Amino acid sequence: MMRVTLRQLQTFEAVARLNSFSRAAEEMCVSQPTVSKQIKGLQEEVGLVLIEQSGKKLFLSEAGQELYKTCADWLNTWEKFEQTAANLKGLKQGKLSVATVTTAKYFLPRILGMFCHEYPGIDVSLEVLNRDRLLERLAKNQDDVYIMSVPPDDPSIKAEPFLDNDLVMIAGSHNPLVSKKQLSLESLQQQPFIIREQGSGNRLLVEKLFKDLGLNLNVRMELGSNEAIKQAVIGGLGISLLSRSTLSHDPSQEELAILDVEGFPIKRHWYLVQPKDKKLSVVADTFLEFLLAHIDVFSKQK
Ligand code: PGA
Repeated sequence: MMRVTLRQLQTFEAVARLNSFSRAAEEMCVSQPTVSKQIKGLQEEVGLVLIEQSGKKLFLSEAGQELYKTCADWLNTWEKFEQTAANLKGLKQGKLSVATVTTAKYFLPRILGMFCHEYPGIDVSLEVLNRDRLLERLAKNQDDVYIMSVPPDDPSIKAEPFLDNDLVMIAGSHNPLVSKKQLSLESLQQQPFIIREQGSGNRLLVEKLFKDLGLNLNVRMELGSNEAIKQAVIGGLGISLLSRSTLSHDPSQEELAILDVEGFPIKRHWYLVQPKDKKLSVVADTFLEFLLAHIDVFSKQK
């Protein structure tokens, strides 16, 4: 087995590529005698002349040409390994900060759990806020990853859809509307409606839906969380429109029902949102890849 060093191979590759000892020395930031010494040592180890010199010109011998081909492939592979090693070092002890709107908390922690299991050294934090609070954090660039369903209309922001987000109209399971088929939204405008607080993305969607159709919204109560809304709906205080992800697989177990409304469910998406010019950390990039690779599990669940 030959005892050739990585440094010798790098030096040989540079001399062969640049066809010059002095230019190789310059590129590698070493002196020319150092380059000559590396090549001499390499030739001794291989036991063949690799570089021939005639006057000032350099020529690769047959063995030199073979080694040059091997070197190019080998150094390329080594470079890839160095990149992977650097990424792994970064992933051993990185930090990941994810910020999401309240509705995504029904699936996101599970994905984060799977990610933590795969990368136990990464310190993960999750901020759960309404849309306005999330936009404040985004403006201050406080987190690595932002998830919301109503991205801002801002050319400096990139929003990439990654998961379906169906919106459904819900009522308590004893509400007489539950047995009705093909309800029109118009027929629901007089129903007492429970709505999220100002600054909520869900509220924006609900208000826009009714406004675009020229319908009134009969707001009975404003509540600051999806859970509180569900409890109010179960308690018979009114109906509401929420993301399907806020409900369990079988809503009747929670004493809730999804109403049969024309044109429903409303098809929307969850978006990954970030400033267009943001350079993501290795950890954040890895998380996004992980999220996209595992998201199918969640899209098939409901
Ligand atoms: P919200 O966002 O928590 O601000 O209502 C939910 C959404 O955008 O669907």
